[in-house]
Amino acid sequence: MISITFQAEQQVFHLATDTMSYIMKIEEGDLLAHHYFGKRIVDYHGIRQYPRIDRSFSPNLYDATDRLFSKDTLPQVYSGYGAGDFRVPALVLEQANGSKVTDFRYAAHEIYSEKNEIHGLPQIHSENSQTLAIEMQDQSLPDVQLFLYFSLVEGKDAVIRSAKLVNRSSEKLMIRKFDSCQLDFLESDFECLNFPGAWGRERQLVREKINTGIQTISSSRGASSHQQNPFTALIKEQTNEFVGDAYGISLIYSGSFQFSIEKDPFNQLRVNAGLNPLNFNWLLTKDQEFQTPEVVLVYSDQGLNGMSQIYHQLYTENLLRGNYQKQQRPILVNNWEATYFDFDEASITTLIEESAELGIELFVLDDGWYGKRNNDQTSLGDWEVNAEKLTNGLNGIINAAKQKNMQFGLWLEPEMISETSELFKQHPDWAIQIPNREKSKSRDQFVLDFSRQEVRTHIYQKVAAILTQYDIRYVKWDCNRNLSEVYSLALDAAQQGEVHHRYILGLYEFLEQLTQDFPHVLFESCSGGGGRFDPGMLYYMPQTWTSDNTDAVARLKIQYSTSLVYPIVTMGSHVSASPNHQTGRTTSLKMRGDVAMSGVFGYELDVKELSETEKDEIKEQVRFYKQHRQLIQFGDFYRLLSPFEGNDTAWAFISKDQKECLVFYFKVLEEASAPLCILKLAGLKNDELYHNEKLGTFSGSELMNAGIYTSIEQTGDFRSECYYFKMV
Ligand code: DGJ
Repeated sequence: MISITFQAEQQVFHLATDTMSYIMKIEEGDLLAHHYFGKRIVDYHGIRQYPRIDRSFSPNLYDATDRLFSKDTLPQVYSGYGAGDFRVPALVLEQANGSKVTDFRYAAHEIYSEKNEIHGLPQIHSENSQTLAIEMQDQSLPDVQLFLYFSLVEGKDAVIRSAKLVNRSSEKLMIRKFDSCQLDFLESDFECLNFPGAWGRERQLVREKINTGIQTISSSRGASSHQQNPFTALIKEQTNEFVGDAYGISLIYSGSFQFSIEKDPFNQLRVNAGLNPLNFNWLLTKDQEFQTPEVVLVYSDQGLNGMSQIYHQLYTENLLRGNYQKQQRPILVNNWEATYFDFDEASITTLIEESAELGIELFVLDDGWYGKRNNDQTSLGDWEVNAEKLTNGLNGIINAAKQKNMQFGLWLEPEMISETSELFKQHPDWAIQIPNREKSKSRDQFVLDFSRQEVRTHIYQKVAAILTQYDIRYVKWDCNRNLSEVYSLALDAAQQGEVHHRYILGLYEFLEQLTQDFPHVLFESCSGGGGRFDPGMLYYMPQTWTSDNTDAVARLKIQYSTSLVYPIVTMGSHVSASPNHQTGRTTSLKMRGDVAMSGVFGYELDVKELSETEKDEIKEQVRFYKQHRQLIQFGDFYRLLSPFEGNDTAWAFISKDQKECLVFYFKVLEEASAPLCILKLAGLKNDELYHNEKLGTFSGSELMNAGIYTSIEQTGDFRSECYYFKMV
């Protein structure tokens, strides 16, 4: 059971779930101190009251009678800038007199039995939630209110935080930095997990010691990016997949962000997360308010698997929405790697017919179907069918799919514009640009200024017309460059720092409307693969194309890391041709299938080039996936062996009732006289029996504690094995 209480005598706020506590206290001068976040405390008596110590050069409150209490050392819930706390501030607010100093203290609070709703941003939703809203005030800014929100969701060990500023004064305020949360820890013996990467090599899990000073994880690209992800976890040295403390911090946002981790001289730690303050400012005039994105804080003492399972459940049940939220996702085939831009109605029809024979359920027509799009240098913005390629329009191939009982899906890249497009001829000013400054090209395209209503309205009409006119059940929403020369011709000079965020707000508004108007469409977001794999996009589109790199070996690391936060049902993963187009590596169809079916399964290859034996193997993969789809997409996921630690990778899917278990084991390189690998399973019932057709019957405790031998037969590199166990 979740509970949020305020103990008036002690001035303590206690947010509790069955296993977790988050505790704050109003201390001297109404400073809101952070006391504790971690394993559930049943009855709190203030043990974390911060010791009163005189720390030289740490300022004291004006009316203090001693020097024992300072904002500079006190763990706090949310710090302003420049009023005695010299650590990283959560808020920097420039006032009319030019000062950026703020000092917000506790003023009032409210506890209510629902999740606070925020306008225009993706957010956690729940019918069964409690929220604490704390109002903070700065004596020098009596007409400015700062609200801090903390929500709990029944059954989930997470705290959802966000903040809001309201300006009731006639003074113009300029927000320079406004974090979603600050989290102070009294200890700093943590390691930090994060996901640096690049195109085709997204989310390469890194675990590093936290050093003194400030470390940041950020994107300034206008997208959550391939290069980093709006997530970090703080873990202890001894934390592994199964045991140990893990604190997850996940920001529900798709644009430029910044996390900072500061270790202070007293070995205390401050973590901040929010919008990237670089090239950010926001003008707040009378009666305007500004709401930050939400951040989801998770605590688990069950190691990284424990943390991930909390995120998986929360994001599946309380972030994803729409018809597909809990629905099994279709197996698709996408023509991109089969044809690239070189296709016509006949070749696509053949692909459809061949794929239908294999049992595939959805055909997706990728880039190249519109305007004069025969390469990537033209036509973005001209969302009219290319009649030279598709002589009977889209309906020619939609009907071909229908005849074969397949659904039809279409690729779109609505946020972009090519210089050689009709749209650019008509509206050159719609591309993001700074007057009298060269515009950088990336993939030969520019970004449309989605902060502008008229731009969004025009594109919306185009997209909606396509989805209304044709029987389209799936859309792949692509975004193939990041923002540069960020500026909006529609805003004045003082507001140019708003463009990054206004772009994302514009995108969210667009997606909200689109998903409401076309609820029958399954949307998959994509950004040159996984360049915008974040919780913000998942709120609108319940799956994401994980990476353009479809090589099975490379995918082990990408999917492993992605699963740290994001549910399996959100991870698009396809079998592609061998040798692989991104790495040139040759791998077996078996391994490619096993890796791809560890996510939302599909194919991305020229099926008519396949041999009969390969077709038979694919038919079997498709049959197998359909049989286990519910278990894979909605079961509990356990990482067992990490590709970042060696040659062996393994993971398992366990049904919610613990009656079924599907294990995948991958061995990258073979060795002569190889040591045996023992794989210990997880998530089973200790004293129940589980049967595998090949291996026999074993107890859950036997499988989990003694483990199974894998990889006994030495049959070369790039191998995989799959074991299905069912409770007897
Ligand atoms: C990038 C995507 O990630 C690919 O899958 C493909 O859709 C191309 N864009 C098409 O331009």
